Amino acid sequence: MTLSLKSIGSWSLLSLMMMQFIPLNRINPPVVLDVQTPYAIKKSLKKACYDCHSNETGWTAIAYIAPISWLLSSTVSSGRNVINFSTWNNEKKERKQIEIIRVIGEGPLHRRLYYICNPEKQLDRQETKILTDWFNESVHEQPPHIKNSGNNRQP
Ligand code: HEC
Repeated sequence: MTLSLKSIGSWSLLSLMMMQFIPLNRINPPVVLDVQTPYAIKKSLKKACYDCHSNETGWTAIAYIAPISWLLSSTVSSGRNVINFSTWNNEKKERKQIEIIRVIGEGPLHRRLYYICNPEKQLDRQETKILTDWFNESVHEQPPHIKNSGNNRQP
C-alpha cells in the first residue's frame, strides 16, 4: 500500500513537472481599438472584465503553473473570442452590448470561480448601475445605418 501510494505520488509529481514544459498562448496581443468610454466606465470594465475580454490580461503568477495555466489560458482565449474590448469595432456591436448588459446583470455568476478567487474584481452596485446605464444608452444612440449594417441577427 505504502509503496503504491509512493509510486502514485512520484508519477504525479513527474507529470506535474512535465506539464510545465507544454507551451501556452499566454500573450497579450497589441490593443487595436480600445473601446471608447468615459473614465468611470473604463475603470469598472478594466477591473471586472479586462482580464478575459481584452488584450490587457493581468496574468498572475499562478497563470504560469500547469495545469491551472491551461485552464486560465483557454478561458481567456474563449473570452476574447466572444468579446474583446481591445478590438472594439462596430461589428455586431448592438448585439454584443445587449449581451454585456445581461452579463453585468448576472454579477459574479458569470465566471463565478474567478470572482470567488478575486473578490476585489467584483462590481459593486453603483458600478453595475453606471455600466448598465451607459451600455443601454449607447445601444440606443446608434445611428440606424449602423443598427442594420449587415448583422445577420439570429433570434
Ligand atoms: C475569468 C474570465 C472572465 C471574466 C472576468 C469575464 N468574462 Fe465574460 N466570458 C468569459 C468566457 C470564457 C466567455 C465565453 C463563454 C463561452 O464560450 O460560452 C464569456 C462570455 C461573455 C459574454 C457572451 C455571452 C455569454 O454569456 O457567454 C459576454 C457578453 C461577457 N462574457 C461579458 C463579460 C463582462 C461584461 C464582464 C465583466 C463584468 C466579463 N464578461 C467578465 C470569461 C470572462
